[in-house]
Amino acid sequence: MILVTGATGKIGTEAVRLLNSEHLPVRALVRDAARAPQNGSWSGVEIAVGDFDQHDTLDAAMAGVDTLVLITPSVPTQEIAAIDSAVGQAVKHVVKITNHKATDDSPVDRRRDHARVEAHLRASGLTYTLLAPNLLMQNLFSMAPAIKQTHGFVMSAGDGRSGMIDARDVSAAAAAVAADPASHEGRTYLLTGPELVTYADVAVELSRALGEEIEYCRLTPDQHREAMVQAGLPEPVATSNAQVFGLIAEGDAAWLSHDVTTLTGHEPRSLRTFLMDHVFAFKPTTDV
Ligand SMILES: NC(=O)c1ccc[n+]([C@@H]2O[C@H](COP(=O)([O-])OP(=O)(O)OC[C@H]3O[C@@H](n4cnc5c(N)ncnc54)[C@H](OP(=O)(O)O)[C@@H]3O)[C@@H](O)[C@H]2O)c1
Repeated sequence: MILVTGATGKIGTEAVRLLNSEHLPVRALVRDAARAPQNGSWSGVEIAVGDFDQHDTLDAAMAGVDTLVLITPSVPTQEIAAIDSAVGQAVKHVVKITNHKATDDSPVDRRRDHARVEAHLRASGLTYTLLAPNLLMQNLFSMAPAIKQTHGFVMSAGDGRSGMIDARDVSAAAAAVAADPASHEGRTYLLTGPELVTYADVAVELSRALGEEIEYCRLTPDQHREAMVQAGLPEPVATSNAQVFGLIAEGDAAWLSHDVTTLTGHEPRSLRTFLMDHVFAFKPTTDV
């Protein structure tokens, strides 16, 4: 049995669908059963309703599980609780979504958090595989309301390039590893899209997909942080996001890898493909 946590999220939903489509026994940990896809793509999937903060629900979800695909919102106490539960329930292998630049001395909180969880996983005695994606293209959905209303977006990543990846390719990589964990023990895979792109490229590709000009308004990280707070983001999240965008501007995410193709046998999707597939999400309301 394979358990996928964070199953309603950007990576988890598609990972569950893919494992299910390969007729592998899969269980999805969700906080709210009503959030499971209702389109039949999960038909046959076992649903475990649970919460990382309610450890009895974690233990129940882990019972009889061989492989855990560990996706969390990056709260270390929650991830550590899931690893401890996996040890207690005799899970064998953990596939953890992590960050390529997770180190103890990273200036970025969430990277230090991932490093702490990785250390806990290494010490747990479980076998594991680490998957480290570059920026997810699905993060662009957070800009959709602004794009719909103003035909533009603000960002503080300057002209920094990133190996942005479609989360569907992260899901495919996770499903490939979970289907055959013994072949990937102790390995770390870096997951990226096929090319380095900037937010200027995002504006160009969005303009092409929507058939109208979408403007990229460059902010400094401080201005962007302020704008995110004004838009209602919690202050620590806005601060952390602005810090990461500032690093991206300096080239921090300008890395590519072939690991998606190695794991899945297919090329990762391009930014253009992602935007064409999801163009409806960015269509200005006047066009609807
Ligand atoms: N986003 C990126 O660009 C990026 C890049 C590299 C690495 N990563 C890493 O990828 C991981 C996933 O990030 P993401 O942005 O893809 O996450 P996401 O889409 O927001 O998914 C988070 C999932 O966790 C679930 N969840 C939240 N709190 C929970 C709780 N208390 N108990 C059980 N489930 C809970 C959510 O369920 P609900 O639907 O109920 O909220 C959701 O399914 C993180 O570790 C992140 O650091 C992300």
